[in-house]
Amino acid sequence: MHGSQKMTDDLISNVANALVASGAQAQGFDVLVCPPAPYLQTARVVIDEFASGLGFYLGAQNVSAQASGAFTGEVSLDMLSEFGCQYVLLGHSERRELYAESDAMVAEKFAACVAHESDIVPVLCIGETLQQRQAGDTEAVVARQLDAVLAVTGIAGFANAVIAYEPVWAIGTGETASPEQAQQVHAFIRGKLTALDSSIGESIRLLYGGSVKPGNAAELFAQNDIDGGLIGGAAIDAASFIGICAAAAKLSN
Ligand code: PGA
Repeated sequence: MHGSQKMTDDLISNVANALVASGAQAQGFDVLVCPPAPYLQTARVVIDEFASGLGFYLGAQNVSAQASGAFTGEVSLDMLSEFGCQYVLLGHSERRELYAESDAMVAEKFAACVAHESDIVPVLCIGETLQQRQAGDTEAVVARQLDAVLAVTGIAGFANAVIAYEPVWAIGTGETASPEQAQQVHAFIRGKLTALDSSIGESIRLLYGGSVKPGNAAELFAQNDIDGGLIGGAAIDAASFIGICAAAAKLSN
């Protein structure tokens, strides 16, 4: 819940212009921006104007599992698709913690995306709290969050999905998981999915989120099972967003 219409406009056009100037079209990575829902239209217009053909995508931060009807305050997949959204974040830790979204609710939303005709790609956010990590439960928590979705959609549901591993203790805290810590969990996630379907497990994009900045992005993205980042604070400043894109560009060369 950051920013304004003007900020959304400025941020996206600055990032897009920087990518064009650096010749990033040829560099084999994608950029996804997920503004607050009221700014999706602004973002769509700016992406179309400045970033068309750049691998620059639009996503939302949340969606309802319901198709339509009397669900005051909710936003549907049909509505997101009308604004040209191609992705949606699901189960961000703030949704889980502050708005009591359970594993089952997140799984229902994920299944709604899979079933929806628009092919909006769910970006499933999972991760443990500090307490859970200290208790040695990281893998159990991540497995439980994945199992809730697998129980509803099966492994086939992940054929067109992205997973973001976001340790809750690293989100917005300035504390980043070390590249080794993050890689270890990413390898666990990929291994779990690969055991069910090797082609889905090997090809699914796994993003790391939690205090990613220009200074640590390259090292994180260099890990075998880290395919990119889910950026919060550092993405609302154009210069640092561009710095993170530059780290991704270097590695995809
Ligand atoms: P951060 O946020 O990059 O500011 O830690 C990540 C997130 O909100 O997912």
